[in-house]
Amino acid sequence: MVEAIRKSTREERERWIKEAKYNLFNLKSDHVFIDLLTDSGTGAMSDRQWASLVLGDESYAGARSYHALREAIREILGFEHFLPAHQGRAAENVLYSAIVRAGDVLPGNSHFDTTKGHIEFRGATALDCTIDEAADTRLEIPFKGNIDLDKLEAALERYPREKIPAVVLTVTNNTAGGQPVSMENIRQVSALCRRHGIPLQVDGARFAENAYFIKTREKGHENKTIKEIVKEMFSLVDIMTMSAKKDAIVNMGGFVAFKSEELWKKCQMYCIMNEGFITYGGMSGRDMNALATGLDEGTELDYLESRVRQVARLGARLDEFGVPYQRPAGGHAIFVDAARVLEHVPREEFIAQTLAIELYLEAGVRGVEIGAILADRDPVTRDNRYPALELLRLAIPRRVYTDNHLDVVAVALKNVFDRRESITRGYTITREAPIMRHFTVELDVAAR
Ligand code: F0G
Repeated sequence: MVEAIRKSTREERERWIKEAKYNLFNLKSDHVFIDLLTDSGTGAMSDRQWASLVLGDESYAGARSYHALREAIREILGFEHFLPAHQGRAAENVLYSAIVRAGDVLPGNSHFDTTKGHIEFRGATALDCTIDEAADTRLEIPFKGNIDLDKLEAALERYPREKIPAVVLTVTNNTAGGQPVSMENIRQVSALCRRHGIPLQVDGARFAENAYFIKTREKGHENKTIKEIVKEMFSLVDIMTMSAKKDAIVNMGGFVAFKSEELWKKCQMYCIMNEGFITYGGMSGRDMNALATGLDEGTELDYLESRVRQVARLGARLDEFGVPYQRPAGGHAIFVDAARVLEHVPREEFIAQTLAIELYLEAGVRGVEIGAILADRDPVTRDNRYPALELLRLAIPRRVYTDNHLDVVAVALKNVFDRRESITRGYTITREAPIMRHFTVELDVAAR
């Protein structure tokens, strides 16, 4: 599918971003030139996926499309049981409705915001056990998304087993910069979980990109196919939640998959209540077909190589200009180190958001803040939480933009970078939601 893109003037963008209350989620897509807000649901489906849509079986129960997806999940991921859901957070909702209670603790590696939201909404705690190295954007190590095993072990020993419904391993680690988790780390986390009798949940939104990094960076895996690596990864895992909008390259869809038949049955009620009957959940038959095809295509080496290399190429362009970002380049996005670009904007005025607005004003490029706005307030003290990093994420949709488009992005960012000393004023919040505020937050230019 090819879409027209539309250029705009700086004056127009100044008006639009003000009307959007300086929240890039509030912009009309027509007012965006190159849209790197997210890689979620924004990929281009293939000829095979479009063809499979036409063959969708829309039966309420037991549809052929359900069985096609079931077969793909069993074959490619190795899970016997699953429940379809309309997207990743819906899968989290189904799972956590069944297993998370107030006072519980779920250790993991930088839980994604909806995951953290679903945990905190239930009065439980998402305990971040990511390796400390992830917070040093200059450090070039191959598996910066890993869990720190000492931190995890300390958590598993500190809290009683019945208070830990699952350990959540996010692959790739989105929040830390699309950074992968090594097979070795997955294996050790899995062993630790087994020893403590705690299920291991993988948030697998970008599992295939993670497998690509294992193949290309981890000794002993270079001669395996992506599908073999994927199978090996999930052989170590009990539960998988999936936002299929990422690595299964569909515009909408997700699922939660289980090894345990008992847990699958326990979760069915929440799927029926919130999503739909257990053989379609939140999805239509045609969408389940496209998802099944996408799981197959998304785990092919040639596709993954062109995908991940395109992201790396954008990183290499930024290197030419000296723009700092989370190193090495991630699987789905470049995370610009905003705090090292805008050194004169105080963190209370939202550094990464300020950079996101500057880049939009410069060239109509839309990225997203991964900083203090996203980090929300502490659920107990209600103080702003200031994360270790203020990042501007430039997420690359799958099979959509050319390298030329990304050159425009790189040069636009260079222009902002070159005038960084003159950018001193950030933004203040005028309105916010109590949880996951970044989607709907309203801002104004900070008063001085
Ligand atoms: N887990 C991870 C690691 C994610 O990145 C996302 C979504 C979800 C879960 C939730 O899935 O959106 O289908 O409900 N990430 C998108 C992003 C929104 O832009 O990174 P969802």
